[in-house]
Amino acid sequence: MIGIFDSGIGGLTVVKALMEHLSGYDIIYFGDTARTPYGTKSSETVKKYALENTDFLLSKGAKIIVIACNTASSVATESVTENFNIPIFEVITPAVELSINTSHKLCIGIIGTRATVKSGIYEKKIREMKPKAKVYSKACPLLVPLVEEGWLKKPETKMIVKKYLHPLKVRQIDTLILGCTHYPLLKDIIQKKIGKKVNIIDSSIAVASKVKAFLENHQNINNMLSKKGMYRFFVSDVTEQFEKTAKSMLKIDIRLEHVSSS
Ligand code: DGL
Repeated sequence: MIGIFDSGIGGLTVVKALMEHLSGYDIIYFGDTARTPYGTKSSETVKKYALENTDFLLSKGAKIIVIACNTASSVATESVTENFNIPIFEVITPAVELSINTSHKLCIGIIGTRATVKSGIYEKKIREMKPKAKVYSKACPLLVPLVEEGWLKKPETKMIVKKYLHPLKVRQIDTLILGCTHYPLLKDIIQKKIGKKVNIIDSSIAVASKVKAFLENHQNINNMLSKKGMYRFFVSDVTEQFEKTAKSMLKIDIRLEHVSSS
């Protein structure tokens, strides 16, 4: 099974992308809804949660792990990789690679939670690969609660997106990385407000292509993954909102399974 975790609901954008890229592969998801959000917590806390989440998914039979949460990917990938001897995927590197391969001017914007932006991980990775790149980032803390509320098309959301994107727009970025699980759900508004010429990089699609390419090149690991088209969704707090959003996003019938987080 492919194990995926996120702080809550947002990682379902990654599940959707994986279902499309790797149809039929069994997926086990853990959304840490009792402890969400991660984006406002300290890196020590997020690391601890990421290790616990990985441990849980392995106990349920996951053979590879995808850290769908940008915040956890930013601050906890190293700890998870050091502690578990299995393939671990995070969402930052695939998005960075895609952005530098497609950006003409190498003038790249990043939006994410406060923790992700504070970590500076996107800038660091982009500059490691392209030292001359111009990189600008902006934390957008209000966007996660707006998505969680289902305010995807409200005028207030449009206004807030416009305000957050203004500093990136004036820099005339040509590429914008959506550095948070929730932002693909606001992609249309974001595209409108940043301008149609700006190429938007959706990290959920970027990581799904990366996992697919990896499995094509590592048949031994590919063979270990079951492919019965089975999906299991665990959450640390069962909420109606999660079930509703999950069903409408993934277009499949979902039965949430509860697991307590420590
Ligand atoms: N999943 C988080 C991320 O991608 C957003 C929600 C949160 O703050 O926990 O950064």
